[in-house]
Amino acid sequence: RIFLDPKDASKSVAKEIADLIRSKASEGKMCVLGLATGSSPKTVYSELIRMHKEEGLSFKNVISFNLDEYYPMEQDALQSYWRFMREQLFDHVDIPKENYFIPFGDIPQSEIGEFCKSYEAKIDSLGGLDFQLLGIGGNGHIGFNEPGSLINSRTRLMMLDHSTRVAATMDFGGELIKVPKKAITLGVSKIMQAKRVVLLAWGERKSQMIADAVEGSVSEHNPSSYLQTHSNVLFVVDQAAASDL
Ligand code: GLP
Repeated sequence: RIFLDPKDASKSVAKEIADLIRSKASEGKMCVLGLATGSSPKTVYSELIRMHKEEGLSFKNVISFNLDEYYPMEQDALQSYWRFMREQLFDHVDIPKENYFIPFGDIPQSEIGEFCKSYEAKIDSLGGLDFQLLGIGGNGHIGFNEPGSLINSRTRLMMLDHSTRVAATMDFGGELIKVPKKAITLGVSKIMQAKRVVLLAWGERKSQMIADAVEGSVSEHNPSSYLQTHSNVLFVVDQAAASDL
């Protein structure tokens, strides 16, 4: 769906998420959300906060799993995705603290394998993700599944592409050397198992990747292209991001 601007697009996505949360609540069920960081989802989160404050949308029945976290990364560091999620959403709504999960960027490397298995097992024990929100990297990554990631890839520690680290330098004081070389990411297979996937992209810098993801061949060279094989996926873009379609 192509929107005139990111604000209208974000309102529509936030409404879909709110409707899902409310319908699950009316059935007495938990709503299992897969959440993303990056600049693209910020407007969706601010709309959800508005709906919480003005319309009484409750997050008490939400359990959320974030896609990824840099490694290594302290939880309270400026660039941590823990901090991002608290500032952009969690601290402003009534989601219980024990209901949100974000990969730990501060555990010893030897514990990452076990951690990733338990992260996936927790999602599975809740019946899988009801909804996965995604952004898209400049190289087509989803979460931190960089080009080369297979469709059946599991949650794991990933080496970041040079281009991904360069894109992140501004967040790290403009110093490439300060950008972590690795990240823990939910695997492509868990993303593909979500019952619904919505990918957001704004601006002309995303237009080539969006065209490739939607119209190109399905290939590990562009992990977002795997979504062509998902049965319930929506790409939500603004006109600039749609300009190469
Ligand atoms: C990071 C995140 C991705 C996100 C991407 C795009 O790499 N790990 O999940 O989709 O950035 O970010 P932005 O939305 O700021 O363009």
